[in-house]
Amino acid sequence: MVLESAARGAAVATMTPLRRFATESEQGIWEHLRTEKQTNGVQIIRLHRPKALNALNTPLMSELVSALRKADGDSEVKAIVLTGSERAFAAGADIKEMKDKNYAEVYKESFLTAWDAVSTIRKPIVAGVNGFALGGGCELAMMCDIIIAGENAVFGQPEIQLGTIPGAGGTQRLTRAIGKSLAMEMILTGSRLDAHLAEKRGLVSRVVPTEQTVEECVKVAEKIATFSHPVIIAAKECVNKSQQVGLQTGLEHEKALFWGTFALEDRAEGMTAFSEKRKPVFKDI
Ligand code: CAA
Repeated sequence: MVLESAARGAAVATMTPLRRFATESEQGIWEHLRTEKQTNGVQIIRLHRPKALNALNTPLMSELVSALRKADGDSEVKAIVLTGSERAFAAGADIKEMKDKNYAEVYKESFLTAWDAVSTIRKPIVAGVNGFALGGGCELAMMCDIIIAGENAVFGQPEIQLGTIPGAGGTQRLTRAIGKSLAMEMILTGSRLDAHLAEKRGLVSRVVPTEQTVEECVKVAEKIATFSHPVIIAAKECVNKSQQVGLQTGLEHEKALFWGTFALEDRAEGMTAFSEKRKPVFKDI
């Protein structure tokens, strides 16, 4: 059930060379990210702190939120792919950064609350998870909208081994994703979920060969990017609403946004194109 073998696979996985990723460091922007804006409406963001297995320290998370907001505000981007390396999506919040903090500090600075910004991004985020997605790494993946896992992916909330509990949504999102009993077992024992069980339990939408994870995410994001931008964000908003409110409130929200699409030229174009047996040409209006 909860397997360690994939973790060993992750540990020995080889790093593939970065594709065409721009560092943006020429412009002095990203230290811990690699980004690529494609011409197909897809923005790829890769966590890049290899020596620390992409441990999520404050500078990295601050850059990530900036890069996501930048993509969210870029009219040429319609969907985002977030990934790490083949060895690690992210091995959690940075333990070395956290270890000397006391209660007054974490309370006053509202520690980790800045991460919530990831779940406020309106464009879809497809997470490509290879290797370790532990603690905050698992929580970050769960803040995304779709998770595609490489075969070597391992998910876990090991905070109990550090004398703490998940603090970036793990107890809530993991429980909603895989059910109470297995989430409780993982959170109370620190045991991990391999990619195939993660798929079986609905944490990830599918498992692909590790070296193909990013390509598969791009394919999904590229497909999303062919549709109307306002309709994409309405659809994402409604699905996410289902995780936040009761059924009746969610249904009412969905109906309001469904009706709202009738104010869009793209809605008229989509239905007219179907009737005329041609491909729609969406203008994002
Ligand atoms: N924080 C800081 N550094 C980390 C880290 C983390 N979460 N995870 C890994 N690293 C560092 C290691 O300290 C090591 O650095 P040095 O080379 O300087 O010693 C480097 O990354 C490589 O790691 P390992 O040598 O440990 O690699 P491994 O293959 O033997 O083990 C691992 C990999 C199983 C992921 C192991 O590193 C590990 O257990 N990491 C911690 C996982 C964890 O507990 N995550 C939860 C953090 S708490 C949290 O996230 C709270 C929250 O809810 C937000």
